[in-house]
Amino acid sequence: MQIFNQKEALTQFLQKEKKEHKTIGLVPTMGALHKGHLSLVHNALNQNDIVVVSIFVNPTQFDNKTDLEKYPKTMEKDLKILEDLSHNLVVFTPNAHEIYDNNIASEKFDFDGLEHEMEGKFRTGHFDGVGTIVKKLFSIVMPDNAYFGEKDFQQLQIIKKMVQKHRIPVNVIGCPISREANGLAMSSRNERLSAELREEASFIYKTITAAKNKFGTESAEDTVKWIEGMFSNNPSLSLEYAEIADENTLKPVKTKEENKHYRLFVAVYANDIRLIDNVALN
Ligand code: PAJ
Repeated sequence: MQIFNQKEALTQFLQKEKKEHKTIGLVPTMGALHKGHLSLVHNALNQNDIVVVSIFVNPTQFDNKTDLEKYPKTMEKDLKILEDLSHNLVVFTPNAHEIYDNNIASEKFDFDGLEHEMEGKFRTGHFDGVGTIVKKLFSIVMPDNAYFGEKDFQQLQIIKKMVQKHRIPVNVIGCPISREANGLAMSSRNERLSAELREEASFIYKTITAAKNKFGTESAEDTVKWIEGMFSNNPSLSLEYAEIADENTLKPVKTKEENKHYRLFVAVYANDIRLIDNVALN
């Protein structure tokens, strides 16, 4: 496994590989790797000759300083996990200066309104930060394929939009959500949950899968109200939002239409730890 912390060295290495017609997959991460990340890496290894995993806690996508400071950092453990996984991996571990020089700031993006829905309402500037780092990573790695989890479904749609609008020649591939045995969506932030809260947080997936059944017969509005009621009776978790939205526009659905695909999205606090999840409804 090769590790690069400088973009030029990485680009040079990859250019040689591309000359030999090797395909490149990219899996961008912020580290604290878990099985969810690894499922993306496995998909990428199956579909590409070389896979670059980037590990970089991107400061510009955090609207909350404490969240950034408390974000788990487990670089040595991450490198060991990747090392054991495959020798065909290349890991990119830049520092902030390597990515941003002296200007840690976001580019401003227009994602045709996708950025104003759900997470965009609660995390100011978050998607400008995500767009900025992912665009930079795309230009450094120039991958054939890039892998993103449906866990962050809005992020996945926004990256697809960015690639389309900026005509970036990369195939964006969405991967299903990996869950703990109790249903909780895997997340680096789960590391900060006590064992007890981790168990209680399984309520999130239980509730959204129960809501999925309700959505079969009830309206979106009633289904969302039902979810809000369920969370208001739960003393350990506090619901920030529940929304049923069209998969493509991410706009909240009023009346169901036959040939559209809908998803239910939630953001929930367990103490000060923010968890998100979603499930396809049809
Ligand atoms: P991070 O939260 O580390 O996630 C890296 C990738 O792993 C994302 O595409 C995310 O959707 C995916 N992922 C996380 N948990 C998952 C799960 N349980 N199942 C499937 N996929 C999962 O998302 C980011 O980092 C950053 O915003 C990034 C794209 C790296 C830009 O900084």
